[in-house]
Amino acid sequence: MVVKKPREVFDRDFEWSALDRFISDDEPGATLGVVSGRRRQGKTYLLEAACQAADGFYFGATEATDTESLARVSSALTDHLSPVSPFHFADWAEAVSALLDLGRHRPAPVVLDEFPYLVKAVPELPSVIQQALRPFGSARTGTRARLLLCGSAFSVMGRLLTGTAPLRGRAGLELVVPPLDHQLAARFWGITDPRLAVKVNAIVGGTPAYRREFIRGDTPNGPDDFDAWVIRTVLNPETPLFREGRYLLAEEPDMRDGALYHSVLAAVAEGHATRGGIANYVGRKATDIAHPINVLEGAGLITREADMFRDNRSTYRIAEPLITFYHAVMRPAWSQLERPGNATRVWRASGERFSTKVLGPHFEQVCRAWVLSHADPGRLGGIPASVGRGTINDAPRKTAHEVDVVVTGIPDSGCDAAPLLAIGEAKWGEVMGSRHLERLRRIKSLLGAHGRYGTRQTKLMCFSGAGFTDGLRELAADDDGVLLIGVGELYGGAPAPS
Ligand SMILES: Nc1ncnc2c1ncn2[C@@H]1O[C@H](COP(=O)(O)OP(=O)(O)OP(=O)(O)O)[C@@H](O)[C@H]1O
Ligand SMILES: [Mg+2]
Repeated sequence: MVVKKPREVFDRDFEWSALDRFISDDEPGATLGVVSGRRRQGKTYLLEAACQAADGFYFGATEATDTESLARVSSALTDHLSPVSPFHFADWAEAVSALLDLGRHRPAPVVLDEFPYLVKAVPELPSVIQQALRPFGSARTGTRARLLLCGSAFSVMGRLLTGTAPLRGRAGLELVVPPLDHQLAARFWGITDPRLAVKVNAIVGGTPAYRREFIRGDTPNGPDDFDAWVIRTVLNPETPLFREGRYLLAEEPDMRDGALYHSVLAAVAEGHATRGGIANYVGRKATDIAHPINVLEGAGLITREADMFRDNRSTYRIAEPLITFYHAVMRPAWSQLERPGNATRVWRASGERFSTKVLGPHFEQVCRAWVLSHADPGRLGGIPASVGRGTINDAPRKTAHEVDVVVTGIPDSGCDAAPLLAIGEAKWGEVMGSRHLERLRRIKSLLGAHGRYGTRQTKLMCFSGAGFTDGLRELAADDDGVLLIGVGELYGGAPAPS
């Protein structure tokens, strides 16, 4: 590593080393990198740290007019270089050329953060940059500027490099800064108790800012402090976290009709997660909600998940736990919560909603994430190619089964059906017993007849936040096709003793 990561930057080793390779690259010629990711994940934090460590130039754009933005860049660059006479760029071509000049003598990071704001005010900016970076242009060869464009609006950042966009094919780095996964989030929050870690994760997810600026580092002291922590942080009108569930939308320039967007999110949080279900809940036609769904997806706030057993049956999931929590627990009681002193009452009355609408679905999601990134492929019988959920019809019993965890593998060469490595059920609050296993066996046999995946090796996984009956433990001990996964194991602990 050429540029050393500052000690206060938690993890992000992968992202840092990618940035480091990009900004320390000695090759002649200016290069372009694109950094994106949802709000508050630490993009700015990483890029500012990198600029500091490598003596680079950082500019954070704001919502401003073309003229004002140009004046701001001029004065930021003047501050950075202290030239004899201050810069007053006449146009963006001049500004970009001065920015690229920063790499005249050495590879230097040059960051334009909140780039979507700039593009909004100056739509031609990507073409101006393209002009400056064209292969034999003077700017490109005379400098080793490492230009980094950063932003959270996936719609804008994604469009920069696709289709006929001027910058297509130019970027030498495309970095997405994701939320911390559940294991890293627990470490970041300093939580060692795995059940507590799941509960905290179900509210604040893996967004680093929510521990820092938003509640000034307040973390639960232990499992018994959880309720009090909820009351003094997210349900407390004095913390910025309290309003974040609403602000996240208000900050998105494309989401001006806030009411419609909030209702779409409420529908998903309530479990009406198909297009039809959302439309019905919101009271609009399916064609009318296509746009808000696309915008929410574009901002990374919801994700579409295909049903692993049925084509064209996808559902939507809210990607930011705080938004689910806001819609499930806070929004219904908003006027109560805004008055000081009511948080305790509201929280006491919300136990059921928190369990069914927030914790249960979040636990399933943590289980899927664990299988994809942490489970031992040896135990699964292969590397998971994809992990999702699915619904399978049970015609003889006139019902349908929801399967929380569906794990497919990579097909053997010469065999077109992908192997179904595992199916699983996740229960946060229930001790799992042999009837849960029976249900999975039934589903496996239905899937065998279904024929889409190879089920010869399919393992049956029970994930429980509350443990397993002795009966189920005995069954699992005699059958290596049955895996019992407790919460401890989801956090890297040893497999549950059977
Ligand atoms: N790796 C990290 N280690 C420690 N703290 C972090 C880390 N990443 C983010 N944070 C904390 O989260 C805060 C928010 O991060 P930052 O403002 O960089 O997010 P962002 O992705 O730029 O968000 P936005 O899209 O809203 O600009 C930081 O100020 C910092 O307190
Ligand atoms: Mg930022």
